[in-house]
Amino acid sequence: MILIVSHSKDDHAAAVIGELQRMRHPTLLFDTARYPARLRLSQKLEAMRTEFHAVCDGERLDLGSCRVGWWRRPQAFALEPGMPNEAAAFAYSECHEAVAGLWHALDLTWVNPPHLDEVAHHKPYQLRVAAEVGLKVPRTLITNDPLEARQFVVQHGADRVVYKTFLASEACWRETRILRTKEVELLDHVRLAPVIFQEFVPAQADLRVTIIGERMFAAAIHSAPGSYSADYRMDMDGASFEPTSIPEDVQALLRNFMRRLGLVYGAVDLRRTPNGEHVFLEVNPAGEWRFVEERTAQPISRAMAEHLVSLDPPAEYDHAHETKAVGARRSVGIRRTPGRGARHAIPSN
Ligand SMILES: Nc1ncnc2c1ncn2[C@@H]1O[C@H](COP(=O)(O)OP(=O)(O)O)[C@@H](O)[C@H]1O
Ligand SMILES: [Mg+2]
Repeated sequence: MILIVSHSKDDHAAAVIGELQRMRHPTLLFDTARYPARLRLSQKLEAMRTEFHAVCDGERLDLGSCRVGWWRRPQAFALEPGMPNEAAAFAYSECHEAVAGLWHALDLTWVNPPHLDEVAHHKPYQLRVAAEVGLKVPRTLITNDPLEARQFVVQHGADRVVYKTFLASEACWRETRILRTKEVELLDHVRLAPVIFQEFVPAQADLRVTIIGERMFAAAIHSAPGSYSADYRMDMDGASFEPTSIPEDVQALLRNFMRRLGLVYGAVDLRRTPNGEHVFLEVNPAGEWRFVEERTAQPISRAMAEHLVSLDPPAEYDHAHETKAVGARRSVGIRRTPGRGARHAIPSN
């Protein structure tokens, strides 16, 4: 059985669950937002044996029969409303310990292992590893020191430097920006919060490379004509997407990079420069692919389903051919969602 840690409105989980259902492979959608208020979780130890089960809306599910976990979009826990702050903080921390411990205690092969996913998403770390394995990485400065920031800008020239955030989320999204001359006087503000500065890398195309195990799906993305040259996401409707291939040597470097981070899945952003070089920008360890799949028809959801199944020995189940949703509104099956905003969605990472 495959355990998917996400929620019922996740279009990526829905697409993969659809594929898994077609393959008649049992799946469990586990929504941590239902814990602890709606979802009971128990781990019982007796002698050498450990048993794990979940009860949600009266249904009992044997978590111990899961062999594969897909760490997709874990949600914040939902405590009983009305708890005093101090008690709520304590309760939340205890929930976290029980559930974080559960992920390790269950005998699962993960895509991706939660602790490695957590470490790998940090940009300062992944940039260093990318450079170490030999991927081409833009000259970068990560700092909260205004003096360092100024020196970097003087060295490269304003208008040749971009700045960007560490975390992209739907709630707080900022595009990569080219530093304009008039913004140089604002550089003192980096003392308030650190910033990632990079040399501007010109692009023939932006590349999104979705890696699933040994498979890679590369898409070339061309910004809308005349639109912002430093971030195609500013005009998703105008941008054009097409499947592309990347040179064998870059593929080998990316495989090595993924191995170094311990990732099985990752969505990598590269820039293909006008002289054909491939420059690494970042890997999103739980990054999105639906916006690519919808535009290129690359069968990425199916590849993810196939990969999860390949990790799950088939002899385990002759009994169940269904998807169960722990913590979802319904205990069996999942509502397929059309995808958030489809063409207008900005990939959060
Ligand atoms: N150094 C750079 N030079 C030119 N464009 C860049 C540079 N870094 C990022 N971009 C553009 O901004 C987009 C987002 O940057 P990225 O590094 O992927 O961060 P995030 O997706 O977390 O915002 C990239 O896909 C690319 O189009
Ligand atoms: Mg990105």
